[in-house]
Amino acid sequence: KTILLLGVPMDSGKRRAGCLMGPDAYRTARLPDALRDLGHRVEDLGNVAPDAVDLPEHDHLFALPETVGWTQALAREAEAAMARGTPIFMGGDHALSMGTVTGVARHAVEAGRPQFVLWLDAHTDFHTPQTTGSGNLHGTPVGYATGRDGFDAFPPVTAPVRPENVCMIGLRSVDAAERAAIEGTGVRRYDMRAIDEDGIRRPLAAFLADVAQAGGALHVSLDVDFLDPAVAPAVGTTVPGGATVREAHLVMEMLNDSGLMTSLDLVELNPMLDERGRTAQLMVDLAASAFGRKVFDRPTQRMY
Ligand code: ARG
Ligand code: MN
Ligand code: MN
Ligand code: MN
Repeated sequence: KTILLLGVPMDSGKRRAGCLMGPDAYRTARLPDALRDLGHRVEDLGNVAPDAVDLPEHDHLFALPETVGWTQALAREAEAAMARGTPIFMGGDHALSMGTVTGVARHAVEAGRPQFVLWLDAHTDFHTPQTTGSGNLHGTPVGYATGRDGFDAFPPVTAPVRPENVCMIGLRSVDAAERAAIEGTGVRRYDMRAIDEDGIRRPLAAFLADVAQAGGALHVSLDVDFLDPAVAPAVGTTVPGGATVREAHLVMEMLNDSGLMTSLDLVELNPMLDERGRTAQLMVDLAASAFGRKVFDRPTQRMY
């Protein structure tokens, strides 16, 4: 594979700073070498910069103009990257997915393929600028990319992702307005109880089978807070009871086996909150699993 690394030193999606150091943490933790060691061609395209936009600050939404500028720049860069390889967006906070998801979806539509999204997160990030209580736009990217109303300050979404094509796994912190809005959409949502009851393999296998069946493109968005804070402390929005190291690796290994993943976000890593780089290292190891690292080959390949 040709893997394109794009750094997104973005902090405007929430008030606590630090995610802008994420891209350098991934480079320091040797993400490029880990992928090269698996036999891939890896190009580090450096860091993206936000477009300058002429918008006033908003009184409720934090850093709205900067986030609009990032969204515009990232959608363009993501769409362009899709024509050349498999992009990994090294964040940066989760507001970066407003740009990456809408950009890759534009490319998919032009190629005549439906866009699917796997959202690995404690949160649904399904707010709109009207419903967010915190005013933090990192809580809105799925709302934006699926074409919810209320994002007038942002670039129009020309290729909205169908809610039925979104699968969220790891949920354990959902605001009331998000819960109300997501009910009645076809968004597939699996909370930690679902994982405890049935395991993480079953819902993912069902989703991957649908992506394959539809000939879809699959964007994966991995939020650090998908993981349990005990193993991944470097995130501003820790929620106890997250995915284990083993569950997360299984997800990544299944993604690799499927051959379906066409783009990947690594988001919300805040190196200021890390302990001797352990969270950055875990995220690098998870990315490596998603691109083919394994302990042993399976004797018989199980499809998903
Ligand atoms: N729902 C909360 C909010 O809107 C938390 C969002 C957390 N999102 C994230 N990408 N970490 O503020
Ligand atoms: Mn998130
Ligand atoms: Mn295009
Ligand atoms: Mn989250």
